Amino acid sequence: MSYISEYKQSIDHPALFWSEKAKDLEWFDFPQKILSQDSEGINHWFSDGKMNTCHMAVDYHVNNGRGEQTAIIYDSPVTDTKKSYTYSELRKEVAKCAGMIKAQGVEKGDRVIIYMPMIPESVFAMLACARLGAIHSVVFGGFASPELAVRIDDAKPKLILSASCGIEINRVIEYKPLLDGAIELAKHKVNKCIIYQREQSQSSMIDGRDIDWESACKIASEADCVKVRGDDPLYILYTSGTTGKPKGIVRENGGHAVAMKYSMSAIYDTNPGDVYWAASDVGWVVGHSYIVYAPLIQGCTTILFEGKPIMTPDAGAFWRVISEYKVKSIFTAPTAYRAIKKEDPNGELIKNYDVSSLKNLFAAGERLDPPTYEWLSNNLNIPVIDNWWQTETGWAIASNMTGIERMPIKPGSATVPAPGFDIHIIDDNGKELGRNEQGNISIKLPLPPSCLATIWGDLDRFKSGYLETFPGYYVSGDGGYFDDDGYLFVMGRTDDVINVSGHRLSTGEIEEIIGSHDSIAECAVVGINDNLKGQVPLGFAILKSGVTESNADTQKSLVKLIRDKIGPLACYKETIIVERLPKTRSGKILRKTMRQIVDGEEYVVPSTIDDPAILDEVKEQIGKR
Ligand code: COA
Ligand code: AMP
Repeated sequence: MSYISEYKQSIDHPALFWSEKAKDLEWFDFPQKILSQDSEGINHWFSDGKMNTCHMAVDYHVNNGRGEQTAIIYDSPVTDTKKSYTYSELRKEVAKCAGMIKAQGVEKGDRVIIYMPMIPESVFAMLACARLGAIHSVVFGGFASPELAVRIDDAKPKLILSASCGIEINRVIEYKPLLDGAIELAKHKVNKCIIYQREQSQSSMIDGRDIDWESACKIASEADCVKVRGDDPLYILYTSGTTGKPKGIVRENGGHAVAMKYSMSAIYDTNPGDVYWAASDVGWVVGHSYIVYAPLIQGCTTILFEGKPIMTPDAGAFWRVISEYKVKSIFTAPTAYRAIKKEDPNGELIKNYDVSSLKNLFAAGERLDPPTYEWLSNNLNIPVIDNWWQTETGWAIASNMTGIERMPIKPGSATVPAPGFDIHIIDDNGKELGRNEQGNISIKLPLPPSCLATIWGDLDRFKSGYLETFPGYYVSGDGGYFDDDGYLFVMGRTDDVINVSGHRLSTGEIEEIIGSHDSIAECAVVGINDNLKGQVPLGFAILKSGVTESNADTQKSLVKLIRDKIGPLACYKETIIVERLPKTRSGKILRKTMRQIVDGEEYVVPSTIDDPAILDEVKEQIGKR
């Protein structure tokens, strides 16, 4: 089949197209309503279907002859552990874990926060929630207490699942004090926490609130899959918006399962039984979709890697895993490949391993920069495929559709829209742009299955943030263009969101925190280019008059403040102290111009600038870095 005919069918007859794809899954009751609208005008896929995502990902395979196949390989160089679970073993672990969660009174529709490292129990917990119809919300382990607290207050969980610690290369990161701090800060009171005690660190437990995971699991009875509707939420995943408050992206069961299954064949060219590895973290959307749900729904073997691309123990870690488990496809963020390239510029370590099982390499989370593309391509001699997506969609909006028709690769482009995504480039006035014209990448409604149905508890924010800018379209927040061949080039965010090591952060949120510091009168934060991490935040701050502490002390305390409030993953390291900030006459800070100066790009001084002398002052300070 050609890409064009598949794509055209998905756009011309979406309901028919996706109803055919839905037949590849085992439903309890196949949906009658394939695509429907609710009273608010929001589209839902497969709303009246009866199903269970955990059944589709686990039990189905056990019942259909895959029980003895390996479902999960856990490889943890940081703890020197390797362990695998067959689908039958996974079913048992998940059913027990679900029983343990159920024993705490968790029912269909209740929220459960999972704040855990990359261990098998995190995957069991996600699937166990799905099994019960409970809505999980996984919070990345690198977030500090206040970030966790905001998510607790928003999702209002009945239960939190956590572990005593995570391990960052050779450092033990105690999770329990962060969890306790978050519960203390949150207004919503959580009565029960189940804690997995890792041998690297044992946490102290709070009587009456904290429950030991292993003992609770031992006495739990196995729980069965609960029937849910296609439009019941599977999970909430928080992501950064332009304000300090993260957005709880709501993913519905039916559309998600269909898109996951479809994408494994159409985009990633994998079959049941293949070994698939997404080197990400279960705290991110890539981890949700491609460590846990999609490979399991497809009947693949998935790898859970608790390590880093470098230093665990070296830049050959990825090649070791590929050769050891005969990985067919690997998927991670370009920053990870850049880290490897930096340590091993000539790809010498690749030669130590037999990586012949690897057929495709995928990258997403940020644009795959052409030098990294070239390095991977030259050293591995396999297709290196960039795919563009967002937490909001849960799967790629644009990619080379390797399972349908392999298209020639153009470095720097995410190739073509995935079936179901009707992409248009629109200028700020709502006018559709032609080929080679850069504008707002927008997707004509209806969005295909798996895309967000709302923002948890804030339908208005969903409408105003995504649907109202260009009526009839979802506005992605990314800018870009189509070239003459219909290849999509995604050029970066058009809002205040930055991408640090593939992690999405809001500069607005960082500004709010810096602005709360006692010594700071005003500030601006921009995302500047970084060779390894893609972007890192850089602050500009004006000190309050009469501040006596030294610049160095202010710098240090701002770094600590961001680490304490957001977490180390923000990689906030530097603040440039200025006397004044350049602004337009209407008072808008000229962030873009400051970023361009730092990055050494050409820039035009905006005609709306209030006082050009301020820009010169700032330039001078930048020059002193
Ligand atoms: N728990 C606690 N802390 C964490 C953490 C976690 N799960 N993940 C990261 N951190 C900490 C790190 O220890 C580091 O702390 P430090 O400032 O005290 O050293 C900080 O957050 C920044 O981490 P990171 O961005 O990972 O930078 P790094 O220099 O340690 O490593 C890379 C660089 C490229 C190796 C690393 O960023 C990487 O592997 N990236 C892949 C990104 C990815 O998988 N993205 C998912 C989207 S697809
Ligand atoms: P997240 O929701 O954390 O996955 O981040 C989504 C954002 O990452 C997108 O809006 C883009 O800005 C960026 N992004 C992800 N993948 C790509 C890609 N392949 N090319 C360019 N930008 C990307």
